[in-house]
Amino acid sequence: MTDTQERTLVIVKPDGVQRGLIGEVVSRFERRGFKIAGLKLIWIDEALANEHYKDHIGKPFFPGLVKFITSSPVVVIAVQGKDVVKLVRNMMGALKPEEAAPGSIRGDLALSKSFNVVHGSDSPENGLREVSLYFTDKELFDYPRDVENWLKHE
Ligand code: TYD
Ligand code: MG
Repeated sequence: MTDTQERTLVIVKPDGVQRGLIGEVVSRFERRGFKIAGLKLIWIDEALANEHYKDHIGKPFFPGLVKFITSSPVVVIAVQGKDVVKLVRNMMGALKPEEAAPGSIRGDLALSKSFNVVHGSDSPENGLREVSLYFTDKELFDYPRDVENWLKHE
């Protein structure tokens, strides 16, 4: 990874997997041109959920959040690129359904503040932290793509 590259953790949450939206979500990031550095189906256990969402421990929605995120398999994706954290957050849309812009993943596919299809890291530091929570070094690939010349994402 070069200095300008970031990594972010995207999760297709249990509702997304159950509703058959894995391809829809992955496809949006693929079509945008981002490089997928890692991707797998996993079932998050309570310990991992607590670690992932540790900043939210103690908040009223926390128990429900852990119950939800551990309720079904999820797809975790390490997405790589310049400014990828912010760009992915923009594509996800806002948490509140009434604020999620049409065209965003949540704005197109979600009606709920808790069942909201997708997770994305909220800062470059958290991107690295969260990617390393879910992926070992051997599960991440930084491969050249010829299409890079046509994306001009410099
Ligand atoms: P947060 O990090 O604030 O949102 P985002 O997913 O956009 O980064 O919250 C993490 C998750 O916690 C959120 O996706 C859904 C859940 N949550 C609720 O269920 N109710 C709430 O009021 C909030 C703030 C979050
Ligand atoms: Mg968050």
